[in-house]
Amino acid sequence: MQALPGFRDFLPDDCSERNYIFARWREIARRYGLVEWEGPVLEPTELYKKKSGAEIVEQLFNFTDKGEREVALRPELTPTLARVVSAHEREFKKPLKWFSIGQFFRYEKQQRGRLREHFQLNCDVIGEADLAADIELVALCIDVLRAFGLEQKDFVVRISDREFWTDFFGNNNVPAERWGDLLQTIDKSAREPREKTMEKLGELADPVLDALKSGGKSARLDQLVDGLRARGLADFVTIDVGIVRGLAYYTGIVFEAFDRAGKFRAIAGGGRYDNLIAQLSDGALMLPALGFAMGDVVLGELIGEIPRARQAMQKRIANERSIDIYIVIAKEERRADAIARIQQLRDLGYRVDYPLTSTKVARQFQAAEDLGARIALLFGDEWPQVKIKNMATGEQQLVLHDGLLAHLQAQTSLSS
Ligand code: HAM
Repeated sequence: MQALPGFRDFLPDDCSERNYIFARWREIARRYGLVEWEGPVLEPTELYKKKSGAEIVEQLFNFTDKGEREVALRPELTPTLARVVSAHEREFKKPLKWFSIGQFFRYEKQQRGRLREHFQLNCDVIGEADLAADIELVALCIDVLRAFGLEQKDFVVRISDREFWTDFFGNNNVPAERWGDLLQTIDKSAREPREKTMEKLGELADPVLDALKSGGKSARLDQLVDGLRARGLADFVTIDVGIVRGLAYYTGIVFEAFDRAGKFRAIAGGGRYDNLIAQLSDGALMLPALGFAMGDVVLGELIGEIPRARQAMQKRIANERSIDIYIVIAKEERRADAIARIQQLRDLGYRVDYPLTSTKVARQFQAAEDLGARIALLFGDEWPQVKIKNMATGEQQLVLHDGLLAHLQAQTSLSS
């Protein structure tokens, strides 16, 4: 039996990498004052049909449940966030600054960087219309990537403004019903053959392709870059009006993060969705909103590819996975004494491991090394003394078992 296509098994090493990514995500989101929240993984299919746009609806994992409800595994978090905020906004002061880490499901064609499940960090700000919030979130996205040891030469955040295009359509007298489709076409233009894009754009092909080529101009985007420059982060972004984002609900500034080498799909993406909450609450509540999500799949591949980032990860993981103390039971008569100490040490918060059954001493020391133990405690012929071995230096010392705990607690090498 194998896992379904596009679904991953997480063996211990994979879990360590995943936890490393989650820990950095959480650390940097907290640095920016965001608080954590979570929603359900199953939602009414209707939520996405109404709000996410055609592309995501085609990719839904959906079914009818035993109560005849049409339900879908969540492909993204933003519609859930809008639903939850509409229901609870009175309980919170604005702006809300929320983040979430969770798993998402899209029935996509499996390819490099795209699976049928993935994890996302979502960071959103609700109730703030000022560009200051857009600047803050782009800065947060950059800082999250920097926290993995990624630098300006490794990634770039392409920023854009959907209003650039809606103004453009207005000036070219394009009826508003066509705007959504045109934005989708522009979004796909970098990934699709040029002829296909031109055909879909029709009479707008030349002016749209010209605007894409020249990069486009927007005072608001210049202001955004200035805001990032004040933080020393301007070199991490470029203005690129070719970014419009596939999801239907975006209204203003949008952005996507890519590796500079252009080898991978997007690492992260987001933008403003000022009308989504009003739409979901049938106009009862108007709250401007913006946010972004970063996936674990492309990010993991990028970390693996860049030695600096990979080493930083491996160092943290080794530290995280190592134990403090390995108990070597050299004489089986001492097992009961050793177990009593193990319980006390674990109660004190130390990570402690030992052989479950009678094992050769050499193999026990090997296990101590493999597990990254900082010290080994040997229970054997020396009883009532216990031998302490510093695993890094090889230094050994005998301590009376009565004074063992006090002795260990005084050792700075064991305090984390
Ligand atoms: P999205 O661009 O659809 O945006 O997804 C965000 C990120 O999730 C992508 O850049 C990518 O790294 C990752 N991702 C998406 N689909 C897959 C997949 N099939 N396999 C692996 N990784 C994937 C959103 O989801 C918006 N809701 C983001 C947002 C939050 N906008 C406002 N707030």
